[in-house]
Amino acid sequence: MSANKESWGSRVGLVLAMAGNAVGLGNFLRFPVQAVQNGGGAFIIPYLVCLLLIGIPLLWVEWSMGRFGGKFGHHSTPFIMDTMHKNRLWKYIGVFGIWTNIAIAAYYCYIESWTLSYMLHSVVGTFEGMDQDAVAAFFNSYISIGKSTLGIPLEPIVFYVLCLLLNTFILSQGLSGGVERVAKVGMPLLILFGMFLAYKGVTITAGVDGAINDSSVGLNYLWTPNYEQLWSPSVWLAAAGQIFFTLAVGMGTIHCYASYVRSKDDIALNAMSAGWMNEFVEVVLGAAILIPISIGYLGIERVTELVQLGGLGLAFKTLPYLFFQWGDVLGAISGVMWFGLLFFAGITSSLAMGTPWMGFLQDEFNWGRKASAWSFGIIVFVLGMPTVLFFKYGVFDEYDYWAGTVSLVVFALFESILFAWVFGMKKGWREITSGSDIKVPGIYKFIIKFITPLLLLWVFVGSLVTPKGGDWGAALAGNWVLDDSSIIKKMMNSSLKKELADAIAAVNPAEVERLQNTLFYVNASRVLLITVFLSIALLVYVAYKKRVREGKI
Ligand code: PHE
Repeated sequence: MSANKESWGSRVGLVLAMAGNAVGLGNFLRFPVQAVQNGGGAFIIPYLVCLLLIGIPLLWVEWSMGRFGGKFGHHSTPFIMDTMHKNRLWKYIGVFGIWTNIAIAAYYCYIESWTLSYMLHSVVGTFEGMDQDAVAAFFNSYISIGKSTLGIPLEPIVFYVLCLLLNTFILSQGLSGGVERVAKVGMPLLILFGMFLAYKGVTITAGVDGAINDSSVGLNYLWTPNYEQLWSPSVWLAAAGQIFFTLAVGMGTIHCYASYVRSKDDIALNAMSAGWMNEFVEVVLGAAILIPISIGYLGIERVTELVQLGGLGLAFKTLPYLFFQWGDVLGAISGVMWFGLLFFAGITSSLAMGTPWMGFLQDEFNWGRKASAWSFGIIVFVLGMPTVLFFKYGVFDEYDYWAGTVSLVVFALFESILFAWVFGMKKGWREITSGSDIKVPGIYKFIIKFITPLLLLWVFVGSLVTPKGGDWGAALAGNWVLDDSSIIKKMMNSSLKKELADAIAAVNPAEVERLQNTLFYVNASRVLLITVFLSIALLVYVAYKKRVREGKI
């Protein structure tokens, strides 16, 4: 018997937990940055198209895969996929659905811990009276693990550990007792804080409180469609990537949450409720805070500049300062709300990341809830410390690239093929619609079978061999030079090596040393990530052998 006796307490709780899984730092920090980096209005159309043709179909696919696996007592993707087809390799593809979560959690919880710390700093008034440079300097010294402003030694490490302890503790309380409870408190608060800040964001007026632009400047920048760049594949890749990250599809978390849904219960409507709640938070609230406020005070040019310097800068170096343009009281309240909102968004997502691994241990090795929660906390700590200690050497970005970007597309491509072509669309459609409280539009049968896998394939191939400057015309005409942003060039560290060669040529020893270190840490993080992947695969193998021995297969 599996030790896994988890279940959801109520439908509202389930939908809020699923929405909490989706609504995360991605909605408030990643979405606006992606939009700015991809030309504002040029980003929105691909984003919405990817939502309808990749995001929504995958939500249905993953919810139904999860509920289907749950009927057989499986709560993580290796054995959920294993029940869908007799080929033994599928369960190793399923390793992605555990690995991605652990690897994302390792860097995600680090940012989450910043939000915790910044929330406290906002409460005690650290940023009050600081000028823009002082707020930025505070951030720089924080991440370089320099001296603590609160007098806490090694502040980022302390908060990282605190944040992991909090996650572990909540996870050890189980789904309905822990995850669901946090979502029920966290989600409404997040929406409340978000509405307040969005209201402030859309009412910014040039000339009032030092603003130089009306809020409409930032909003128009985001929402005026820019048809010129519409056909740029790199914009499409970024849009698809954002849809994956924000909806938490291609990750294995949705499968896990849905595997605890009773076999007769609806999934079609639940999937839409959680998914659209995420979109509301992303395109309405997420788009109305960071960009309109920063553009309102700094202008489009400066904001684009700042975003290119580092996506997280605006949220942590600029906003805490800008809030105080509204006066000391509102400034303090807004700071608490902004970082509080980010914290709730973050924790309801990082909790979700813990569940596939825990479900796996509970199903396969009869681990208890507490032991599996602690093992998650410890693994994330070990894997996450390099992102904390070597943040400036690109470890964080490396994790985000492989686990938070590439792996999602790969896994989604496999699962969509498994679902629509191997398991079969006929059975698949029955899974999606059985017990459904809405009528799922029939066109999605066609979309899930043909459009979604083809788009995913295009996204994957497009990122694997992106031609230089995104010039597909030249590439297809026979002159295929790979862009440094392509997966293959990334694997070869091409752009880093070029920078190193330049630094050597320019006789810049400090820069040479930094780049050499970066290369070392980038490669080391890959070794670490691959080791974790292989270890999970080995565990899946052991679990499989155990099942055979016990006569379960
Ligand atoms: N969807 C979350 C966000 O937007 C991220 C996430 C990643 C959630 C992995 C669950 C699993 O921030």
